[in-house]
Amino acid sequence: MNTNSIEYAKKLLEENNLVAIPTETVYGLAANAFSEEAIKKIYTTKGRPSNNPLIVHISSKEKLGDIAINIPAEAHKLAQHFWPGPLTLVLEKNPEILNLVTSGKNTVGIRVPNHPTTLELLNKLSFPIVAPSANKSNHISPTSPQHVRESLSENTPYILDGGECLNGIESTIVGFRNNQPFIYRLGAISIDDIETALGKKVNVYHNEKQSPLSPGMFKKHYSPKIPLILSSDVETSIRANSHLNIGLLTFKAETISGKNITKYSLSKNGDLKEAAKNLYKGLYELESKKVDLIIAEKMPNHGLGLSINDRLTRASHK
Ligand code: TXA
Ligand code: MG
Repeated sequence: MNTNSIEYAKKLLEENNLVAIPTETVYGLAANAFSEEAIKKIYTTKGRPSNNPLIVHISSKEKLGDIAINIPAEAHKLAQHFWPGPLTLVLEKNPEILNLVTSGKNTVGIRVPNHPTTLELLNKLSFPIVAPSANKSNHISPTSPQHVRESLSENTPYILDGGECLNGIESTIVGFRNNQPFIYRLGAISIDDIETALGKKVNVYHNEKQSPLSPGMFKKHYSPKIPLILSSDVETSIRANSHLNIGLLTFKAETISGKNITKYSLSKNGDLKEAAKNLYKGLYELESKKVDLIIAEKMPNHGLGLSINDRLTRASHK
């Protein structure tokens, strides 16, 4: 079947079916945001817990008022600056938004994805779509159609092929508490870029012990099927595990080698943007090599390095 038919994807969504869609961050598993029947399919296909709310994807900032109310001025500023793009805003929900979308919360996550195929699809639809990442719950996010098939296997829906995702890591989520912005999830936009856009410091919201604001902030998440350790000293970690087949995920090109080591370097020249783009690709690749253990090198703690370390830390949780 044709793998890039926007018309066919539109028809499927109108009939309350799911479609895997490309975005600039990761592939999404899309459904009509106003159809309970369609949204239930997302939860069953992913095996997603019902307390994890979904992000509503809209075609432009002009549609924001259909989804959210009482929007803070700084949210408008961020939307103006980053949309279409990898920013999700968590705002007070319009009463019309289904509880199934927000897991009963009075807030809703919203973004305008920056991918020409998906923007064209959204422009043709008469409704917004909800789209979590198109992977089994807790597994690594897909950045290509092949990854979607690997993660969802027999439950894979029609995939609208938009090539490889350019950012390769999920959107940065910004929410508001008492009108103050907080970063709920680190992602494709660095904290520095959010702060520059707002002209002020913005804190990361930590709330691990109680019910997390963003279940994407659960300690264990985004995990490959193989145990992973995050290491600031890969040589020592390799020595300690020399009896195992090791998948070595490094930042830059790596000179260490050995019969038992399969290497994947995220960015030969040490570029954090490129490393973020390749993060999930590298993890899918090492997973497919059936190594016993993935040793991931800790990234520098700045810019997108913080977002990558966040995902690797969650991937390493038992
Ligand atoms: O880049 C992305 O955001 C991708 C692409 C497909 O758009 N989507 C994505 O969706 O990562 P998902 O469902 O895998 O992650 C959405 C995150 C979850 O951690 C969820 O808890 C959080 O967004 N979220 C959604 N609505 C929320 C809300 N009202 N309050 C707090 N967190 C919310
Ligand atoms: Mg996800």
